[in-house]
Amino acid sequence: MGKDVIIACDFASAQQTYDFLDHFTGRKPFVKIGMELFYAEGPQIVREIKRRGHPIFLDLKLHDIPNTVKKAMAVLSGLEVDICNLHAAGTIPMMQAALEGLTRPDGTRPLLIAVTQLTSTDQESMERDLLIHEPIDQVVMHYARNARQAGLDGVVCSPLEAAKVHEACGADFLTVTPGVRFADGDVGDQKRVMTPAQAKAIGSDYIVVGRPITAAPDPVKAYQRCIDEFVG
Ligand code: C5P
Repeated sequence: MGKDVIIACDFASAQQTYDFLDHFTGRKPFVKIGMELFYAEGPQIVREIKRRGHPIFLDLKLHDIPNTVKKAMAVLSGLEVDICNLHAAGTIPMMQAALEGLTRPDGTRPLLIAVTQLTSTDQESMERDLLIHEPIDQVVMHYARNARQAGLDGVVCSPLEAAKVHEACGADFLTVTPGVRFADGDVGDQKRVMTPAQAKAIGSDYIVVGRPITAAPDPVKAYQRCIDEFVG
């Protein structure tokens, strides 16, 4: 899979999601399904969106003991998702177990990427609550290298970190980057943003775009603009 735009379908119900996806009669966008929708609707929503022809990033951020994560990943792999993820904080053995669980009998598996430090965690809360005292950008890079060492395919990161991650982990290690806004668009609650064109220039492999597409007056046009800037 090459560079692509992933739409964050942060809707509360299956019906809202299907109504939104019905707009896309041409190219079937890559879709991110998160915890809210998955917990509300269950695996059936994954099967239905897959049946409609969309590649799927299932954003459930697993983090548990290795054996539990391995078994849960085997279930997600059976849903035929294209990308899933976990917390690198679960350690290298947990990430390795996840890969084992994801690998199907025929050797194929979804891509597996890691969350490093959540962007909601800052230096202060990391030191205070987690007792981690290294600079946060070094922690992020360390977790990315752990993910690489465990055999994962990439990380979710800010577009501002993508170039450094590629430097530390190799050009083929995927960077999946949210926090994307159009140059003339609302930033909303995102603090550090880039346009699709800038994300392309710094080497992001996938951009995750939610509200600039889902809340646009013409979502198909907004999606096409992302594709033109990022892929085209
Ligand atoms: O609407 P917006 O474009 O801000 O949506 C971005 C998506 O990426 C949301 O689903 C959000 O939860 C997710 N995300 C993020 N920042 C991270 C990790 C995930 O915005 N660090």
